[in-house]
Amino acid sequence: MSAPNKSYDPVEVEALKPEEIERMRDEALAAFAAADSLDALHEAKVAHTGPASPLALANREIGALPPHAKADAGKRVGQARGAVNKGLAARQAELEAERDARVLVEEAVDVTLPYDRVPAGARHPLTTMMERVADVFVAMGYEVAEGPEAEAEWFNFDALNFLPDHPARQMQDTFFVQGPKGTEESGSGVVLRTHTSPVQARALLDRELPVYIVCPGRVFRTDELDATHTPVFHQIELLAIDEGLTMADLKGTLDHMVQSLFGEDMKTRLRPNYFPFTEPSAEMDMLCYVCKGESIGNPDRPCRTCSSEGWIELGGCGMVNPRVLTACGVDPEKYSGFAFGFGIERMLMFRHNVEDMRDMVEGDVRFTRPFGMEI
Ligand code: DAH
Repeated sequence: MSAPNKSYDPVEVEALKPEEIERMRDEALAAFAAADSLDALHEAKVAHTGPASPLALANREIGALPPHAKADAGKRVGQARGAVNKGLAARQAELEAERDARVLVEEAVDVTLPYDRVPAGARHPLTTMMERVADVFVAMGYEVAEGPEAEAEWFNFDALNFLPDHPARQMQDTFFVQGPKGTEESGSGVVLRTHTSPVQARALLDRELPVYIVCPGRVFRTDELDATHTPVFHQIELLAIDEGLTMADLKGTLDHMVQSLFGEDMKTRLRPNYFPFTEPSAEMDMLCYVCKGESIGNPDRPCRTCSSEGWIELGGCGMVNPRVLTACGVDPEKYSGFAFGFGIERMLMFRHNVEDMRDMVEGDVRFTRPFGMEI
């Protein structure tokens, strides 16, 4: 910057000559016009409006002018800088609009293109069904309990009051992992559990009373795979042991379960049956959730879901046999309770009209996809 000088005329300062200021302005405007991208415009902006630009430097010269010349030169420089800023803003807006238009075209998504993405995985409907049932009980305060799939024969049979020569042992077609009890092969057999009931005995031995548990799990029987049998299937078991529990509690719990799963107007019924680990024992049926019993004796309203029986068989239940309580160290004089168990495959079959059990085990996504992508 020149030193203060009170004598000379501003036109004699080279940088402040009118034609010089005009040239700086025109050069800036030309540079903006020539910028063909926002980056190039930014460079031109720094060069023509930044602190080292000709007009900024000229502006600084004004301070050195004598007072009478300042106003004139200030006006000239100010007007030129105003025009430059305006030109810059206009070009900036133009280039931004061009960029936006281009981005819209370049980044457009063709929603009509065929898609071939690998679909996300989802849990199997058997798993979600089992959890849905378990959740009904968890909501009532039950805990989820588990036991091993390769189970000691004692838990699978003896603790549950299946005596060694009890015909019920043959009733269940068992996979023996280690020889059956009493053979030369082994004194104490290990089996693939044939039901989830052994978890009852484990829970009674492991836990403090009272016990309220729900046990979902995989079970095994030596059945051939066909439309209605599979050697590996799933059950849900329930056990409640407390002081003063009665069969009314069992019935109320069953009704609550089917109402939660199938609707408020559902109910269950019990038919006498025999299981070694419950006394009395019952077979539990639920009202057919399609015809609600209206098909019974009513040829005008046949029901395919329950074959016009009005009821669907669900599983077994009963009051826990005092012998089971004793075997697990629980005083049957003080405690009582109920248990029930049923198969998940069967429930999935009638709830979703699955006609062939093989579909559930073969892993074909065409079967599972309609159940949704619940994770
Ligand atoms: N464990 C039996 C079965 O697999 C089902 C069952 C019956 C479970 C009665 C129970 C029960 O808890 O009380 O056939």
